[in-house]
Amino acid sequence: MFKDYFKYYKRRNPPPELESVIDLSNSASEQVRKLPVQCATQYETDKTIFGLKPINSWEIFELPHIPGLIFIRNPFTSSGQRYWITRCFKDYSRKPNKLNIDVHDVLGEKETWWDVCTKGDRRAALLIPKLRWATFGYHHNWDTKHYTEENKIEMPIEVEEITKVIAKALGFDNFNAEAAIINFYRMNSTLAGHVDHSEDNLDAPLISVSFGQSAIFLIGGSKYEDPAHALFIHSGDVVVMSGESRLRYHGIPRIVRACKTPWDDEELRDDVLVDSKDWCTAKSFISDARININVRRVLRPEQMTLTTCQPRRTWFSSRISIFSSAIFTLNLVNKFK
Ligand code: SIN
Repeated sequence: MFKDYFKYYKRRNPPPELESVIDLSNSASEQVRKLPVQCATQYETDKTIFGLKPINSWEIFELPHIPGLIFIRNPFTSSGQRYWITRCFKDYSRKPNKLNIDVHDVLGEKETWWDVCTKGDRRAALLIPKLRWATFGYHHNWDTKHYTEENKIEMPIEVEEITKVIAKALGFDNFNAEAAIINFYRMNSTLAGHVDHSEDNLDAPLISVSFGQSAIFLIGGSKYEDPAHALFIHSGDVVVMSGESRLRYHGIPRIVRACKTPWDDEELRDDVLVDSKDWCTAKSFISDARININVRRVLRPEQMTLTTCQPRRTWFSSRISIFSSAIFTLNLVNKFK
């Protein structure tokens, strides 16, 4: 049962055995199968984009016993890791994004979490671990679990772009990043088992990118009673839940200190650069934290907004519609003559 696996991996005393946790950084694992890159995009050269390594160098795996679950082993350059870690802490932790700390009224009108935590403010020690999540695009509503058209802001272009590149490389055309949750974990954080079913479009994959300390990712079946599999997620790894796996129970029972810190690796050239002072601060935050960027498509392909389920109208369909309303009105008029 999912709950029992979760309890086991969360346990502090005695700690769990981790031998059976699938580790894709060890591709010798018999439980995984390597997949080819699905399509050549304009990025499939020796260029990097938004901190991603060239697509033709990516290592992509699937787990045959969990159809639709795809795993890309850290496709980020080390400066890509530094860029995304810094963006999450510095930029995605501020308005107009929604944050869990909004309700605590801990920040003044003009203050940001980053400013208070980096400028020697005495509230920093308390505030650093308090940041738990940020949402943008369609805001995830933690109570109702419903997205609404009124509760929405712009999606940052770099999040849109990077998820499009990832989706396309896996053969998912037309992925649109429409809702994102940034989860900030501390070393003792967990994320309870859940199924992401709030999106109108459950056919589109869910793209999840992680940085910082490692995690044990637990994925069960479509029922809470089903058994679960445990996988390590390391910094830079991308997990894609598509097809049958999209509606499986999953959660994070444990954060594990990373054996490697790929954000520290040396690299000669890249397309993303981070201010060195900002990185120095972000690096100190990530030494005790994990970040997960969780991106979903909300709308179905024919849907333009959440308030309408109408298919997008073409010139032809709108003419048909005007024509049929006219016939209907004529029929009504005739009926009551
Ligand atoms: C989630 O399922 O919402 C997050 C998973 C993760 O942190 O890797």
